[in-house]
Amino acid sequence: MSITNEAELVGMKKASEAVAVTLREMVKYARPGITTKELDEFGNSILQSYGAKSAPYLTYGFPGYTCISVNNEFCHGIPSDKRILKEGDLINIDVSAELDGFWSDNGSSFVLGRDIHGYQQLVDASKYILQKAINNIKGGVKIADIGWLIETEAKKKGLTVVKNITGHGVGRSLHEEPFEIANYRDRFNRERFKKNAVVAIETFISTKSTMAITLSDDWTMVGNKGGFMAQHEHTIVVTDGKPLILTAMNGIYN
Ligand code: CO
Ligand code: CO
Repeated sequence: MSITNEAELVGMKKASEAVAVTLREMVKYARPGITTKELDEFGNSILQSYGAKSAPYLTYGFPGYTCISVNNEFCHGIPSDKRILKEGDLINIDVSAELDGFWSDNGSSFVLGRDIHGYQQLVDASKYILQKAINNIKGGVKIADIGWLIETEAKKKGLTVVKNITGHGVGRSLHEEPFEIANYRDRFNRERFKKNAVVAIETFISTKSTMAITLSDDWTMVGNKGGFMAQHEHTIVVTDGKPLILTAMNGIYN
């Protein structure tokens, strides 16, 4: 969506606070021994306290309220009472929701407890790249140029980008135009970021894969060449200068 008045900005700020605080509190709540289902239900209780409704549940009938992906799972992991979190797991939580007709989206990968498997470098690279990408977005910038920046920064660190999952416009629904904000230079995409546009910027940084493929549960995605992936996502408003980060309260830069 494009922000055209104060009421729309206030609406987006409220929806964004709901998803950002839910994500922040879920990351804090995660600990070895709990299941991803317990973590998901905890997250939904926070969404409910804001009057917000899970976006993937509403939009796609996703079998959970938030997407929780662990280790080799890249994204869209289904919360399960059989999946018990362990020390050192690489966890991704993605929280998106609707509140009073406004939709916001954010996500974060993190290592649970001690980094016994050495995932922290990947997590830090993804966080750094998201920050750099957002700092370079303003009205008039080509979407493909931000893709180039993300891909170049990943390559510098010996990492790959996943090409078939992308950032996107958001605001009046979960996915709206511009539909594809890719993590590589898509030379067929001539679109530019527009001032006042609300967009979800997300990294998909992997140790070796370049595509995400869906497992037989129809949701969970893993890498075409295996390995691991980190994702960090903020919903922002594009301006003439630095973007307004609506989901800053999720604390992923902290
Ligand atoms: Co998104
Ligand atoms: Co998301």
